[in-house]
Amino acid sequence: MQKIILDCDPGMDDALAIIAGLADKNINILGITTVAGNVELTHTTQNTLNLLKYLDHDIDVYSGIDKPLLRDLNTATEFHGETGMGDIELPSSVKKISNEYAEFYLKYAKEFPQEIELVAVGPLTNIAGALIKYPKLKDLLKGITIMGGSLCGGNITPHAEFNIYVDPEAANIVFNSGLEIKMIGLDATMKGYFAANELEEIREFNSKYSKATMEIFDAMFRVRGKIGMTNVVFHDTIALISAVYKDPFKFQEKIILVETDEKRGETVEHFQGNKILVAVDFNKEWFKNYLIKILK
Ligand code: BDR
Ligand code: CA
Repeated sequence: MQKIILDCDPGMDDALAIIAGLADKNINILGITTVAGNVELTHTTQNTLNLLKYLDHDIDVYSGIDKPLLRDLNTATEFHGETGMGDIELPSSVKKISNEYAEFYLKYAKEFPQEIELVAVGPLTNIAGALIKYPKLKDLLKGITIMGGSLCGGNITPHAEFNIYVDPEAANIVFNSGLEIKMIGLDATMKGYFAANELEEIREFNSKYSKATMEIFDAMFRVRGKIGMTNVVFHDTIALISAVYKDPFKFQEKIILVETDEKRGETVEHFQGNKILVAVDFNKEWFKNYLIKILK
């Protein structure tokens, strides 16, 4: 079982990733940290707590940083709704949590040196902040898997993918940290898209995970239909599972630099710096079978 700490900004596709992470027996989520991104931090945190309560999982949650390192926060409410969960209203959790997320990383990384994969599926503010505060995390973590970036154009501007766009300075810190980095960007995740009728067999299953997945999947169509989107992409789930499954991915080693000026958030290949693994392709058929298997 791969030990994972998930850093996320739910956000509906983050919620899908949390569900998959809890449903998959090969993944051991030690805890979840929340960051500002798709919506404000108060919402990303509350959505995480509500979802965990709904799924009956009492795992540790820590809230992180409420805005990018050097910039104002840009949210994505047109894709995720005002609260981040579209028109879904889960019963509210009243659990009180701490904001000492970086100390949480350090505690677990010391307990399990080189065993924990940090999977970041929101802007990289928390991860950069923790690496600045505790540089020794670099020697204690196994690696960092990122949902973000693109070599094939953006989804929030023509150049940039959303997570990297929101906090490009944080992304540069993480990409150059010297840790083993896997960038699971749009080149791979855009292959994991489904039209509204493509996951019908999952609707027949009777597990709490299949039910929650399809409730969110349907809500994503309701919200995004309004802006003309006809597919749902499982960006964050795909990044999460890359920490465990390599077969459906094609990786290439590259040096990546993040633009911070006019083409803010663009991830470009560079000739000097830290080599990271970039996912350049992903197998949709494998993914559909995977979802069917874990959600049954
Ligand atoms: C990423 O941006 C966010 O809106 C999603 O949650 C995902 O992490 C995709 O570009
Ligand atoms: Ca996300």
